[in-house]
Amino acid sequence: MIIAIDGPAATGKSTTAIAVAEELGFTYLDTGAMYRAVTFSVIDRGISLDDKDSLKIFLNMLDINMYFDDKVFKVEINDRDVTGKIRDPEITSRVSEVSAVQEIRKAMVNLQRQMVVGKNCVVEGRDIGTVVFPEADLKFFMVADVRVRAERRQKDLLVIGKNKNIGELEVDIKKRDNKDSSRTHSPLLKSDDAIIIDTSNLEFEEQVNLIIELTKNYKKEMT
Ligand code: CDP
Repeated sequence: MIIAIDGPAATGKSTTAIAVAEELGFTYLDTGAMYRAVTFSVIDRGISLDDKDSLKIFLNMLDINMYFDDKVFKVEINDRDVTGKIRDPEITSRVSEVSAVQEIRKAMVNLQRQMVVGKNCVVEGRDIGTVVFPEADLKFFMVADVRVRAERRQKDLLVIGKNKNIGELEVDIKKRDNKDSSRTHSPLLKSDDAIIIDTSNLEFEEQVNLIIELTKNYKKEMT
């Protein structure tokens, strides 16, 4: 069974998807972390996005590994632990540009489809319900007011010792949403059959419970 959770930046998709996966005993797949890891590597290796030959070589040898270690979600790319680095504001500001590249998206979508084979999975991203798993059993589209999202992202950053003001964060979030929504290949889009969850005025437990309830109802209907 696949549960797709899509939506714009900083709407609480990751924390919600992790809690839902834990509660249901499902595997969690964070596709944003994959695009972030690729962004880190492309910058680190100095690969130009226009250099299609180097990009092809890089994508052919790509190995992404994600797992929980003592409740911490770890991300490795080609055996390098990039867990902390991929949340760095520099990576956040470049990820939309990198993830708009068609060759990169194609490689990521292939990997994502391989990663869920034979599993019950909560998959989180931007194009999960529309492109990666259009046949997903349940699709959710999480949204929230930009102010609320900036406040949440500020808290996330403080945890990793970075401080950014709310105004700047609002601008960053809007910019990233615009880039993600306006790109040619698999833009951020609500699938017609996705259920909208507006988390602006929801407590974390409320949004998690809502998805769990809807999943349980769906399972009942299916049996
Ligand atoms: O957690 P946050 O909302 O900041 O973003 P994320 O889920 O970590 O995703 C980071 C970026 O990866 C997004 O802004 C998109 O540019 C890209 N992304 C994508 O293009 N397709 C996906 N399925 C997931 C993420």
